[in-house]
Amino acid sequence: MQRLLSELAVGEKDYKLARAIDPARLPAHIAIIMDGNGRWAKNRHLPRVSGHRAGVTSVRTTVTTCAQLDLEALTLYAFSVENWKRPKSEVETLWRLLRVYLRAELPTMMKHGIRFAAIGRLDALPPIVRAELDDVIQKTQKNHGLRLNLAINYGGRAEIVDAVKALTEEARLGSVEIDEAAISARLYTAGLPDPDLLIRTSGEMRVSNFLLWQIAYAELYVTHTLWPDFTRTELLEAILDYQRRDRRFGGLEPASVRAR
Ligand code: IPE
Ligand code: IPE
Ligand code: MG
Repeated sequence: MQRLLSELAVGEKDYKLARAIDPARLPAHIAIIMDGNGRWAKNRHLPRVSGHRAGVTSVRTTVTTCAQLDLEALTLYAFSVENWKRPKSEVETLWRLLRVYLRAELPTMMKHGIRFAAIGRLDALPPIVRAELDDVIQKTQKNHGLRLNLAINYGGRAEIVDAVKALTEEARLGSVEIDEAAISARLYTAGLPDPDLLIRTSGEMRVSNFLLWQIAYAELYVTHTLWPDFTRTELLEAILDYQRRDRRFGGLEPASVRAR
């Protein structure tokens, strides 16, 4: 939190918002469905890929701010298993943008101590993209700050299927207890806390196959803002909104967001 405040000018809007956030009750893990790039471009009579290009700026701001807030994890939905249905040219542009992003952001990741990971069925990605991902994963693996998960060729159901397959294989080889913890431990997000806050931009009221298991008790924040227009200000507002929620986890206690 201190790192974020030191970046901001006293009196500016984001400074006031950041000061209003209770650092003891920050979400440990934020997950974001980055949606609305195509509509952002359409509104400007631009090709859809211009929206994806513009969306990279929002990714950069969001990642840096979460690192400066000392969050434990940020998971960004970049490409779903269903997104292959899009025109080949759009999909290829997304891979190109991803490679440019990874190369350009490595110094920033190192500066902020970000540990990068990619989650999803990565085998299906073009080898050149996988090589670039592996490079950033390897170069950032000793960092101790924010864990940044980029969900690529990701599907929540596919992830659960993969976990169940791993579990049944282990059960075949020996005895294994099948309970919630066992499934969580075999998801791509093993070892991380479940997301406390799930943000979706562009106003769609659906989860589109994202982190189905992990969001069981996430607080939802849906904004009409299109992803390329999503700013640090709105991220801070979403966190403040989260801190005003009562999380009861099925109980009766009007417990507010959990203390870390
Ligand atoms: C989200 O923006 C980015 C990806 C799914 C890759 P969209 O491309 O879905 O934008 P809209 O929803 O068509 O506006
Ligand atoms: C969800 O957005 C996937 C990502 C943001 C990567 P979509 O645009 O693919 O979702 P739907 O089709 O509106 O549900
Ligand atoms: Mg969309």
